[in-house]
Amino acid sequence: MAAKSVTRLLGGLVVAASLGSASLSQSIASRILVKNVAIVGGGASGAHAALRLKEDYGKSIVVIEAADHLGGHVSSYHDPTTGRDFDYGLNSFNDYGPARDIFTRLSVSVTPAAHGDLASKSVDFASGQLVNHTGPAIPDMFAALGKMYGIVKQYESLMIPSYAQFPAPSAIPADLLLSFGEFVIKYSLQAAVPQIFAITGNGLGDLLATPTLYVLQAFGPATLESFLGIAGAPFVPSSGRNAEVYEAIATRLGSNVLYSSKVVQSLRTGFGVVLWVQGGDGKYTLVLADQLVMAIEPTPENIEPFNPTASEKAVFDKFAYSTVYAGIVSHPSLPTNASLVNTVPAAAPSNYLALPKPNFTVAFTPIDPAAGLWSVGVVGNEALTSDAAKALVTSNINAMVASGVLPGVSGAKVTFKAWAVHGAMHARVSAAELKADFIRKQVALQGKTSTWWTGAAWSSTATSILWAYNDLLLPKIVAASPA
Ligand SMILES: Cc1cc2nc3c(=O)[nH]c(=O)nc-3n(C[C@H](O)[C@H](O)[C@H](O)COP(=O)(O)OP(=O)(O)OC[C@H]3O[C@@H](n4cnc5c(N)ncnc54)[C@H](O)[C@@H]3O)c2cc1C
Ligand SMILES: *[C@@H]1O[C@H](CO)[C@@H](O)[C@H](O)[C@H]1NC(C)=O
Ligand SMILES: *[C@@H]1O[C@H](CO)[C@@H](O)[C@H](O)[C@H]1NC(C)=O
Ligand SMILES: *[C@@H]1O[C@H](CO)[C@@H](O)[C@H](O)[C@H]1NC(C)=O
Repeated sequence: MAAKSVTRLLGGLVVAASLGSASLSQSIASRILVKNVAIVGGGASGAHAALRLKEDYGKSIVVIEAADHLGGHVSSYHDPTTGRDFDYGLNSFNDYGPARDIFTRLSVSVTPAAHGDLASKSVDFASGQLVNHTGPAIPDMFAALGKMYGIVKQYESLMIPSYAQFPAPSAIPADLLLSFGEFVIKYSLQAAVPQIFAITGNGLGDLLATPTLYVLQAFGPATLESFLGIAGAPFVPSSGRNAEVYEAIATRLGSNVLYSSKVVQSLRTGFGVVLWVQGGDGKYTLVLADQLVMAIEPTPENIEPFNPTASEKAVFDKFAYSTVYAGIVSHPSLPTNASLVNTVPAAAPSNYLALPKPNFTVAFTPIDPAAGLWSVGVVGNEALTSDAAKALVTSNINAMVASGVLPGVSGAKVTFKAWAVHGAMHARVSAAELKADFIRKQVALQGKTSTWWTGAAWSSTATSILWAYNDLLLPKIVAASPA
């Protein structure tokens, strides 16, 4: 960063402090870092952006990450009894764009993700009663997914990996603005719905009410290509630990990551940013950088310390989110040879458009039943708290025991072996907002006040696509601050 910008930024800071910003004037920074680029969030997007900016563009960087590790939604559980490791968050990586190259570059060998052929039982988790539901025949499911692919492939370039080509409202394809339920009925894609819901669609909460554009960001052409065998199968590290890729990035970034840290105050200008960062030890670091990369969900809570501009607020206030939790639970009544899938009574006998609505538990799946381990996921609206999600899991098991669907075991209790708060996910707006040119207003925020945005709210929810999105964004960031 140029000395002149540093001087101007420090001048701005003095002004901010003299205006009475308590935490700025009262907290003594224990150190000052001067960097080309500061990256907030070290998940899928932030970790990748940091790696490439540092190694491919020769930029000095710092990553400010709230957790004590990189990787975001990758959740790992180490079972102390068996010594085995389980991933209960991110499942696998799509073979899309730059993904394989990143693994090769980090010397992390990969293998196709295993998919279990486990039996499943349809149960209404709310009442605990079995639902006599039969899913579509496999050929019908593939036919529907293939048909869907034929329709949506034409829209891919508008939205994946970036919205750069997204058209003005009058030219937005009508299909993208339909609710997904309307889209499914229009093209008779019912037999594709259970699969979409099971893989990623449940995260959207009310899948069928969501504009098709956002469903395609979660389950779009790239996912369809891997299902249909047009692209390679999704893969995982050969070690079976998804965290390995982020541990490799962490090693390469070394001390350039501030862990357990959050920005508490900031000053963003057209010639650089100042970030006041509080670490887990309570100490403050002052970061001065030419450019800022925001790699966190732009929720009101997350962006508050960045003093969002009016145009940023006008965009970000429109987003609705799901709240997602995932865990590993133990209970002696859970079946060892089948997963329990939450199914509403109206889904009987084979209505694929009757789906659970938030807040709901998705399924209980045995991952190591001999060791007493089942994975579970819960999806809610923005109000769903972690405690309420756990209470829902417990009440679902109790209802299935009370109904006799699961055997009763006296004195049995649900144990939460691991629990991940995935927080706000699947940022989305209504079709009415999309028609009001939302996407282009969002894209127009890029680069303003030296701030660049990446992550799931800006592209897809799939990691590999987010890396491809970064590949388009990073050259712009580099061009914005000449050496
Ligand atoms: C249960 C589950 C399963 C999934 N399975 C898959 C899958 O199989 N394949 C796939 O491709 N995708 C999967 N995803 C989706 C994928 O993980 C996400 O879409 C992706 O991680 C989004 O990347 P991101 O960079 O936007 O955010 P994240 O990866 O969430 O990164 C954000 C980072 O910022 C940190 N952070 C948050 N707030 C702050 C703050 N205020 N200050 C500093 N740091 C902060 C977080 O700790 C996190 O590390 C899954 C998601 C979930 C929840
Ligand atoms: C379940 O539904 C199928 C198809 O409608 C029907 O043939 C069968 O008898 C039902 N079984 C039960 C136990 O209700
Ligand atoms: C699973 O186990 C139960 C209880 O042992 C048994 O009744 C059931 O038939 C088994 N189901 C499958 C699909 O193997
Ligand atoms: C979801 O759970 C939260 C509690 O965390 C509650 O406030 C909200 O009303 C619930 N939503 C629905 C639709 O039940």
